[in-house]
Amino acid sequence: MNDWSAGYVTEIGYTFGYYEELNPLRITLAFLNTGLVPPKVTTACELGFGQGVSLNIHAAASPHTWYANDFNPLHTVFAQEGATASGADVHLSDQTFAEFCGRADVPDFDYIGLHGLWSWVNDENHAIIVDFTRRKLKVGGVVYISHNTLPGWATMVPVRDVLVAYGETMAAHGHGIVSRIESALAFGEKLMGTSPLYARAHSHIVERMAQFKNHDRHYLAHEYFNRDWTPLSFLRLAHQLAPAKIGYACSASYLDHLDALHLSTEQQVLLAEIPDVVLRQSVRDLCTNQQLRRDYWVKGARPATPGAVNEMMRAQRVILVKRRADVSLTVNGILGQATMQESVYDPILDSLADHCPRTLPKNTRGNRGHAGRTSARHHAGASVLGDHGSGGNRSGPTSAGRNGNRGGQTPDRQAEYPYHERLSFRQSPCLSGQSRDGGRRGGEPFPAPVPLARTDGHAQPAQWASFANLDDGGGESG
Ligand SMILES: C[S@@+](CC[C@H](N)C(=O)[O-])C[C@H]1O[C@@H](n2cnc3c(N)ncnc32)[C@H](O)[C@@H]1O
Repeated sequence: MNDWSAGYVTEIGYTFGYYEELNPLRITLAFLNTGLVPPKVTTACELGFGQGVSLNIHAAASPHTWYANDFNPLHTVFAQEGATASGADVHLSDQTFAEFCGRADVPDFDYIGLHGLWSWVNDENHAIIVDFTRRKLKVGGVVYISHNTLPGWATMVPVRDVLVAYGETMAAHGHGIVSRIESALAFGEKLMGTSPLYARAHSHIVERMAQFKNHDRHYLAHEYFNRDWTPLSFLRLAHQLAPAKIGYACSASYLDHLDALHLSTEQQVLLAEIPDVVLRQSVRDLCTNQQLRRDYWVKGARPATPGAVNEMMRAQRVILVKRRADVSLTVNGILGQATMQESVYDPILDSLADHCPRTLPKNTRGNRGHAGRTSARHHAGASVLGDHGSGGNRSGPTSAGRNGNRGGQTPDRQAEYPYHERLSFRQSPCLSGQSRDGGRRGGEPFPAPVPLARTDGHAQPAQWASFANLDDGGGESG
């Protein structure tokens, strides 16, 4: 462990994940759904960016100026390669939070994002980030924070503490953290084999331990084998953030906005009786046994009138990122699976089937009768599709912005980005950062993509598909 790490794992790099909730372009739909005026983002900041995959995708395909830090030079050097390849307006540093947050040369921000960070750093760093937010987040600005949540993780805390202590005291340090993790997991299995009363009282522990065994060791190292791993209740988080002068706005997960997917009717009635938003969310977490929260916090929430919400919704452009035929109308919530209403979603999907950016209500309203009601249903529909992997946000009315033109090059050229094979996400200048369609297929890295085919002189969709080793889906263009 290094003395600059404050107990955080640094001897092994983090995974190469993409987290769309970090994309500031997603804020608008969530805020409008909640009836809040969304911020106008020009300057954005990401704290603790890991390998910087999300950061580089967002910076390369949006018009925003980005500042970001991660104290692990392994991470920063990788992220810097992506930033250099794209030429995006992104300023990276390998400073600690104490160093970065104390800098006088960073601008004030409209948006600050922290994913997978809060529960894994100590209170000293919490205080630094809160102070930074108080000073550097503009009025009306938004903070995105995810955190491991109580009650969902409560029963796992003592088990995790024992596993980490076992790795620290019983395993050989000279063999590195992966070997310590293996020893700790083997011990955990042995322990569960003795049928401890704790595991009998909380039977899901055994299942969780089995899931641990299948996780990527890089992930396990950063998630559970740090000195600090503190799942905390929403009430406590709200209390910690209060000095930053930010208040809860809404969930960054669009599907969370649909209570019927996650809460019984009795629970919805109970929650409706609680006017205090922090208390209400905390009770909701008990109803859903929440493990991970992904939330937007705002410095000065401004309620929007229904007319303003409608107008801003109409300015939103979205795009279908799956083939129309591949979109399933089934969604998963805490209560189980639900099927989305064809009468609401089919017109939306049909209007987007050509994969061109569209402003939803204008294009579908004619099919549905009463305009106000129709718009509200389509707004909700757009959100659901967004979280369901079918819809993508488009940055503005005309183009993806100044970084967008370069963005298509970012992760495509292996020579420029040598860790290419580890990346299973790509950004699209059309989508302003969304990259859901760039995931792994059959465990293999995503094949050579369409933008590279175009750069190499292939003009037709069928040629792109053949170059990318993809079925062209019957010659769909767009
Ligand atoms: C669990 S990882 C999450 C990374 C990234 N946000 C993501 O979700 O992919 C936490 C990151 O915070 C960084 N970090 C932890 N403590 C830090 C500190 N005091 N200063 C700067 N970076 C820190 C780590 O190097 C690590 O990359």
